Amino acid sequence: MRALVWHGKEDIRCDTVSDPEIEHPRDAIIKVTSCAICGSDLHLFHNFIPAMMPGDIMGHEMMGEVVETGSEMNGRLKKGDRIVVPFTINCGQCDQCKRGNFSVCERSNRNKDMADKAFGHTTAGLFGYTHLTGGYPGGQAEYLRVPFADETHIKVPENLTDEQVLFLGDIFPTGWQAAVHCDIEPTDTVVVWGCGPVGQMTIRSAVLLGAKQVVAIDCIPERLSMAEAGGAITINFQEESVVERLNELTGGKGPEKCIDAVGLESHVSMGQPDTLLDRAKQMVMLESDRPHVLREMIYVCRPGGIISIPGVYAGLVDKIPMGMAMNKGLTFRMGQTHVRRWTDDLLRRIEEGQIDPSFVITHTVSLEEGPEMYKVFRDKQDSCIKVVLKP
Ligand SMILES: NC(=O)c1ccc[n+]([C@@H]2O[C@H](COP(=O)([O-])OP(=O)(O)OC[C@H]3O[C@@H](n4cnc5c(N)ncnc54)[C@H](O)[C@@H]3O)[C@@H](O)[C@H]2O)c1
Ligand SMILES: [Zn+2]
Ligand SMILES: [Zn+2]
Repeated sequence: MRALVWHGKEDIRCDTVSDPEIEHPRDAIIKVTSCAICGSDLHLFHNFIPAMMPGDIMGHEMMGEVVETGSEMNGRLKKGDRIVVPFTINCGQCDQCKRGNFSVCERSNRNKDMADKAFGHTTAGLFGYTHLTGGYPGGQAEYLRVPFADETHIKVPENLTDEQVLFLGDIFPTGWQAAVHCDIEPTDTVVVWGCGPVGQMTIRSAVLLGAKQVVAIDCIPERLSMAEAGGAITINFQEESVVERLNELTGGKGPEKCIDAVGLESHVSMGQPDTLLDRAKQMVMLESDRPHVLREMIYVCRPGGIISIPGVYAGLVDKIPMGMAMNKGLTFRMGQTHVRRWTDDLLRRIEEGQIDPSFVITHTVSLEEGPEMYKVFRDKQDSCIKVVLKP
């Protein structure tokens, strides 16, 4: 089959590889009908997340048709079913899965020993996301093996298009969880840093959850326009002061809720000297991530407020003002998304027409065009916001 394969930093190719096979009775194979490139894939593209190996198949946002199942589906999944695959593989039976903490499933990471060492305790297996989370082949491919498929799937009805439901596997529940983590009240100002695909889903979730005002920060005009169309007040951080504007919008008190939808690759700019220092430290391996947004959120957040972090961090960050965070009594909530925890509710909201997540798609291309689209998406060329691939 054809698949997008990681060969090294900024080197992804569309190769011919072997078809996946059933390896366990709880596996299923799907024929991928649509998949997408995620901001998290850019961190792998730039080799910021350790434990990728040449030959690894990329992709963790995908859907398709079940073409084969193992013998232990317990009636949950059959050939011909149309499913979206959550990027977090979950067994459904361990203590964490029973609590709905699917992204920290205790059984789905087949490299548990490595993860135990790196994180103290293992987290879930993820598709196409390094050997630290199981080294599972991803879904930017014609076919995908889904482990624990009897639990790791979202069945979707035929009357909705791929584009309407594809993002149930990642960015929609990710934006939703980030907003839910804020315990939004009708009096709240919710600020979202980053207007990429995750930021866009977060903004619309915060609006649906009834925030008084949602403020969106980025420096890319078309992303800010999309945020505005979703109901946000926008700030271009290259044109105005984030701190001053947020104080203006909150009567000098600061926003109650702050969401980091940027993660470890915050823009490096002269106007934000700390980002220059982070970049320099990254180059000499003194720091792995660029946490400008975390610093800014801690500074602007109203005392007693909540900091929610869906943006991915990989390792070690410097100069996080813990004294400020502690004395202001801030609450931090974060994590890879517990996808299945949210998707029944979110599918219902799509069916009811409360939201149509396909609004974020700007490019639909073939799998062969995938390697080029990684660059287009990374560089925001051609007003690119979200890329869907059709294998
Ligand atoms: N928690 C999860 O389960 C989960 C799931 C999906 C994605 N993510 C993460 O969410 C993050 C965003 O993903 P995406 O697909 O939207 O990626 P993206 O790269 O398209 O978007 C990031 C956006 O942040 C903006 N940005 C950069 N520096 C900024 C700053 N200082 N202030 C404000 N905006 C800034 C960029 O211009 C860009 O528009 C990534 O870190 C990704 O790994 C997490
Ligand atoms: Zn993702
Ligand atoms: Zn589990």
